[in-house]
Amino acid sequence: MTEAEPAATASGLILGFADSARGCIVAWDMSANPDLDAAYQGAALYDGRTLRAYDLVVHGLSNHLAWRCPTRTLRALYAEHVSSRHLDVGVGSGYFLDRCRFPVAEPRLSLLDLNAQALSYAARRVQRYRPLTHVGSVLTAGRLTEAPFDSIALMYLLHCVPGNLTTKAAAFANLGPQLSDSGVLFGATILGSGVEHSLPARALMKLYNARQIFCNAEDRKADLEQALAQNFRDFSVSVRGSVALFVARGYSGRRDA
Ligand SMILES: C[S@@+](CC[C@H](N)C(=O)[O-])C[C@H]1O[C@@H](n2cnc3c(N)ncnc32)[C@H](O)[C@@H]1O
Repeated sequence: MTEAEPAATASGLILGFADSARGCIVAWDMSANPDLDAAYQGAALYDGRTLRAYDLVVHGLSNHLAWRCPTRTLRALYAEHVSSRHLDVGVGSGYFLDRCRFPVAEPRLSLLDLNAQALSYAARRVQRYRPLTHVGSVLTAGRLTEAPFDSIALMYLLHCVPGNLTTKAAAFANLGPQLSDSGVLFGATILGSGVEHSLPARALMKLYNARQIFCNAEDRKADLEQALAQNFRDFSVSVRGSVALFVARGYSGRRDA
């Protein structure tokens, strides 16, 4: 299996991602847990090459040109809510972790990702905080030993997770009990439906959903609000371009998870 060489242009890089993702998927042995196959297909995209280009392609170009949600808006969300006992889920390249300012010099930082390569890439990038890392799915990972957390971030994760926002609500039911009483869960996700997509956004949506890099064609704001309402007493969702930004507090479900 050969991987496609990413081209020098932005769109070439994006196609190169998809090709290298396929190469990576084949290399993974998923026989041990076939239920996670679909989730792995999205997560397996993130190998060393894609992770190195991720910041430029996603946070440098796509946010502005396709999704019409400036990266500074996402960074502001992160900066407002990140705490000194933080769990980052779906870490990717570790962009937000590296760029944010924690409220203390030595935060207690935990990382959770389905893809071990993304996890070690991000952990290396923020090794100054000596993060604890966990390989696992946001939909099924059990309670982490470091819980409770004062903040949990899900940045650009949910649009990669298979299913619709009704089934993706399992992420909130899984993570909610791991928040402290005053803790906050926040994040951003690209919506597929009910938003006005730019022309480049429509092209990327089509390509990424076909390649199972995204699974968000049916994701709409109202379903995100319902999923949050099922799990939290207080929440807000705002939309910027194609992106929903959400903040939730006060887990209202069972705490014995
Ligand atoms: C689009 S990247 C987001 C990276 C980063 N949060 C950011 O916004 O720059 C999605 C990340 O989620 C991870 N991921 C995908 N499905 C997952 C799942 N079911 N559970 C945990 N992580 C998952 C991928 O491996 C990847 O690291």
